[in-house]
Amino acid sequence: MIKSLSEFKQASAQAKENPDGFWSEVASEFQWKAPWKQTLDFDFSNPEVKWFVGGKLNITENCLDRHLATQPNKTAILFEPNDPAEAAQHITYKELHKRVCQTANMLKANGAKKGDRICIYMPMVPELAIAVLACARIGAIHSVVFAGFSATALAARINDASCSMLLTADGGFRGAKTIALKEIADEALVSCSTVNCCLVLQRTQQVVQWNSIDKWWHEELEKVDDNCPAEVMDSEDPLFILYTSGSTGKPKGMVHTCGGYMVYTAYTFKNVFQCQPNDVYWCTADIGWITGHSYIVYGPLVNGATTVMFEGVPSYPAFDRFWEVCAKHKITHFYTAPTAIRALEKHPTSLVEKHDLSSLKVLGSVGEPINAEAWHWYDEHVGKHNCPIVDTWWQTETGGILISSLAGVTPQKPTFATLPMPGVQVVLLNNEGDEIEGEGEGILAIKHPWPSIARTIWGDHERYKNVYFSAYPGYYFAGDGALRDAEGNYRITGRVDDVVIVSGHNLGTAPIENAINEHPEVVESAVVGYPHDIKGNALCTYVIVRDMGVDSSIIEKEIREEVAKTIGPIAKPDRILVVSGLPKTRSGKIMRRILRKLAAGEHDQLGDISTLLNPEIVEEIKRQNS
Ligand code: WT7
Repeated sequence: MIKSLSEFKQASAQAKENPDGFWSEVASEFQWKAPWKQTLDFDFSNPEVKWFVGGKLNITENCLDRHLATQPNKTAILFEPNDPAEAAQHITYKELHKRVCQTANMLKANGAKKGDRICIYMPMVPELAIAVLACARIGAIHSVVFAGFSATALAARINDASCSMLLTADGGFRGAKTIALKEIADEALVSCSTVNCCLVLQRTQQVVQWNSIDKWWHEELEKVDDNCPAEVMDSEDPLFILYTSGSTGKPKGMVHTCGGYMVYTAYTFKNVFQCQPNDVYWCTADIGWITGHSYIVYGPLVNGATTVMFEGVPSYPAFDRFWEVCAKHKITHFYTAPTAIRALEKHPTSLVEKHDLSSLKVLGSVGEPINAEAWHWYDEHVGKHNCPIVDTWWQTETGGILISSLAGVTPQKPTFATLPMPGVQVVLLNNEGDEIEGEGEGILAIKHPWPSIARTIWGDHERYKNVYFSAYPGYYFAGDGALRDAEGNYRITGRVDDVVIVSGHNLGTAPIENAINEHPEVVESAVVGYPHDIKGNALCTYVIVRDMGVDSSIIEKEIREEVAKTIGPIAKPDRILVVSGLPKTRSGKIMRRILRKLAAGEHDQLGDISTLLNPEIVEEIKRQNS
């Protein structure tokens, strides 16, 4: 573990000078079944990234078996249910190992094998983490789909990867609501011909329909034992697929592989959070997102930490739930999203103060830029000016944290993610693609691969090359803008493409527009983000309808329903404006830059609109806006 600023500087210098030597040394701390022959195989002109080439391992041996000798009775997963009246569960490393092995055998008994894709659509219960690890145990590729996604979105993801199995639950608890997961899964599976087995966990005990491929999880588990040797995996065998949105309608199935992903998530978890043996670490994300994969499951478990899984929401039964859980389990590390902080900040601080938060040592932020107000509220009311805050910048594609301070070790700076991790060569580019030196603002790009970079987009390597490596040849293009201060600290300013981060969720505007265009009355639509107090960004939709005389409140309602049905409730637009046209260039391209300014109310900052095909439409939208 890096323990001082000088050690950090030394590691960064070493990693820059000799990346292979540096990562090779880091990787040697783990348990391999066979050593690698080459540390990195990569060429920017033909991006096929390979790390630890020829190495053999199983990540679950590093997460579980390795700890059995040293700390079998330490809590691995601490589960806090949605309902505070339900008992928390402390699952030890020994028990987790046993349950993962047994679940792995259940998957095998139902036909799963190495290389198969298994879709997981489950609530935040221990069995979700266990299922993920069980897939890894047998070399099946997990594809977790967040349980807030709709049937259509679930089906698209199952079909994209031709999954052969679906793991789901009868339902999920979420605050005062239950979500009918099995019902949504049933609807999805109607159009998924590759799935031949659906294992259903009992969680809510709600009544479900039963189909010929369905089997109860608890019944299947009883039929198998808990002896399951780990499958030998190549470093570059896929570990999982996780979908993220992009600037076309089709989600991108980012593929992460076993060796590099393990090394990098474990290394960054250890150094960013600086967890000590008796610490209790809580990341509030859902395992349906990359944050949950890397920093609830794999990173913490490889390091032998105690990782908390929380089933509920920050507002249930009241807006002090997070603080109540922190006090109850004596949480030392608390890692959440700015949108949650902003939502909680709106409530009286007495809700925070009534709980004993003295166990907290480190706070974290992830998912979007954290604004100054939220940063200071977090620091003052939660951290009592006593806890370093790590603002961690990274992406589904990067697998692990790329820019962050190391808690208590490197300096923090409010609203800045600060410095790149050792081995991560961040640069700022201008529009011409030239590197900016010193202080400045530009496009964030990365010059050298790190071990957990996504290897491809499932089934579409061309798209992978195009999206990430062709915008600025010689660099990984992240899609974010950033500024850099004189000390080299980075502050992320937001997306530079057609992706909007709403409440920390990465939403492509194209799939939302596609969903809206399905409405029979809609001719054309454009979705843009605009600043929002709590969500960071909200979505504004401009729609052209067939009949301008139609009751727009009905259309608005139907559009929201359509989006919820096709993508999920998280993508529902906040504002919908029925307009008679959209500002376009002479070549017919929608000028989103202008729509963004209009949505933000920046009517006087539109710049030159005289080159538009239809400048008069801008005046019309301005009138509607005010
Ligand atoms: C996008 C990636 C990283 C896991 C969760 C989101 C934004 C993420 C930060 C941060 C500013 C951030 C970026 C990035 N983002 N973390 N600390 N500061 N922006 O993963 O869904 O793949 O989204 O989230 O815009 O590109 P994701």
